[in-house]
Amino acid sequence: MPLPDSFLQELKLRSDIADVVSSYVTLRRSGRNLVGLCPFHGEKTPSFNVYPDNGSFYCFGCHVGGDVISFVRKIEKLDYLEAVRFLADRAGLQMPESRADDGMAAQRRRMLELNRETARYYHAVLNSDVGREGMEYLRGRALTLKTIRHFGLGFAPPGRFALVNHLRDKGFTEEEAIRANVAFRGRNGGAVDRFFNRVMFPIIDLRGNVIAFGGRVLGDGKPKYLNTSDTLVFHKSGSLFALNFAKNEQADRLILAEGYMDVISLHQAGFPTAVATLGTSLTDEQARLMARYAKEVVLCYDADEAGQNATARAIPMLRAAGLLVKVLAVPNGKDPDEFIRSYGDQGYARFKSLLDSTGNDVEYRLQKLRQAHPLDEPAERVAFLTGAAELIAGLQNRIEQEVYAGRLAEETGVDRSAILRQADSIARKRRGEEKKKEFREFQRDAVGLRDRVNPDKSSNLRAAAAEEALLSAMLRYPELAQLAAGLLSPDDFVTAFNRRVFQTLTQKLAAGTELSLSAVSADLSEDELSSVARMMARYHDVPASERDVKEYIQVLKSEQAALRVRQTAAESQPQELLSYLESLRNQKK
Ligand code: CTP
Ligand code: MN
Repeated sequence: MPLPDSFLQELKLRSDIADVVSSYVTLRRSGRNLVGLCPFHGEKTPSFNVYPDNGSFYCFGCHVGGDVISFVRKIEKLDYLEAVRFLADRAGLQMPESRADDGMAAQRRRMLELNRETARYYHAVLNSDVGREGMEYLRGRALTLKTIRHFGLGFAPPGRFALVNHLRDKGFTEEEAIRANVAFRGRNGGAVDRFFNRVMFPIIDLRGNVIAFGGRVLGDGKPKYLNTSDTLVFHKSGSLFALNFAKNEQADRLILAEGYMDVISLHQAGFPTAVATLGTSLTDEQARLMARYAKEVVLCYDADEAGQNATARAIPMLRAAGLLVKVLAVPNGKDPDEFIRSYGDQGYARFKSLLDSTGNDVEYRLQKLRQAHPLDEPAERVAFLTGAAELIAGLQNRIEQEVYAGRLAEETGVDRSAILRQADSIARKRRGEEKKKEFREFQRDAVGLRDRVNPDKSSNLRAAAAEEALLSAMLRYPELAQLAAGLLSPDDFVTAFNRRVFQTLTQKLAAGTELSLSAVSADLSEDELSSVARMMARYHDVPASERDVKEYIQVLKSEQAALRVRQTAAESQPQELLSYLESLRNQKK
């Protein structure tokens, strides 16, 4: 049972797509559209379009599109009903109640309640006698009671069933605890606590929900940390520890550290924009998430080899997400937590001066190059300069390029303009390669190889083009929709996906629903909706008339006829074809 149409209409009326998108993406007007940097893939030039007149969005870079509901689904990682509820809350609309507690949404809500109860329990234990060891451990690491409360830290007691029993008392089943990954199924079939004798770090999402936990052993035991694996409410590679706090700072700059303890230490010392990944290396998704809240990221990983490798990996990912990257090297092989603690009251001032003197990643990478190539050897000097020119070639800003070239000239005694010339030639070559790549992608798109949604397209390009123009006209002009519905039947469509969209549209028309992307969004998957959004975006600035519709219909009919000829030919001559192929093979031998 879908949501009542009247409710959805009202919701859409009150959820202006430009308003909603604007709270995540900075949009600039461009003609009748708004454009901005796509929040769903990393880019430096905007290809993300919002069309307020028809309530849709589409990104020409990553081909994601849809209506306001699917935008919220994607960006907040919600299912359909949750996204509707999200928008309803925002618009101050009451959800129609019978629909409010359905399927996945209800399961998720229940899991979030279980997680919250679990966090509350661990926190209470930490503050009780049972948690004394945990409290001593955290206090021993210089955390204040205020910090412990702020992060909701807790303690999982040594028993194997403490949490499971507590949750049962609160009305949660063992099954639910296992599904939320706070327990696992023991050998005798019952649920066993997943965390015991560990200090607990709740992971909190951007809306304040507890979505997962990390647990640290008190001493040197192994594994040092245990983390919740992915669940219905937890998607590790798209979450960041403490971003729920950092985002409220509205700062331009985030600090990316390696561990929970580093982040907590930094927050306590007065750096509330520190975040960390959750026991995995940085993902593109996390880089883009950061780009939504800041312009710049200061990488502040551990000084050990693993930390340095992670730094080298993270730099290009963060850059690709459009972020300015700086690298902070903590002196004396310390991690940020150790560094801050070692200075006691001076922690803030000391770390602040590190932060302020941090070079950007070019300096960091130059330093690495310098270490690899001792300048007193001529051959090494050439290798160093070549690497440096590649770095300079990658800079967007001419002034920045000149500054670095100047410094290198001083350092190596090589002419500044020679360094710049070398960088320019590398940049030219890269641009040429990018152009080629772009063109290859365009070709691939054009023949529809990428079109998973409509695989028929590649072998029926002409028909598919007519179908898409037709469908987009139907979605934009009610009178053309009526006309097309009267003149065409689904059988006239050549490609399966477009046929299905046409069918859906005509059913909506027959039911008296006004056509729009939103009107069909519940009938389509996310990928399918993106496909329809693409059709609308592609023809957005191309007006359509009755004559156009009739022309498209002509094209479809002639393509259908051609298709029938091809099919009969294929069916009547299988034997001939086979022997022809056989003769070809024999010739080759
Ligand atoms: N981590 C993990 N599992 C491990 C070790 C580490 O998931 N066995 C993750 C945790 O998220 C941890 C981060 O990697 O916070 C960084 O590891 P590490 O530097 O060893 O931990 P710290 O957070 O610095 O903790 P501590 O200072 O207590 O050593
Ligand atoms: Mn540490």
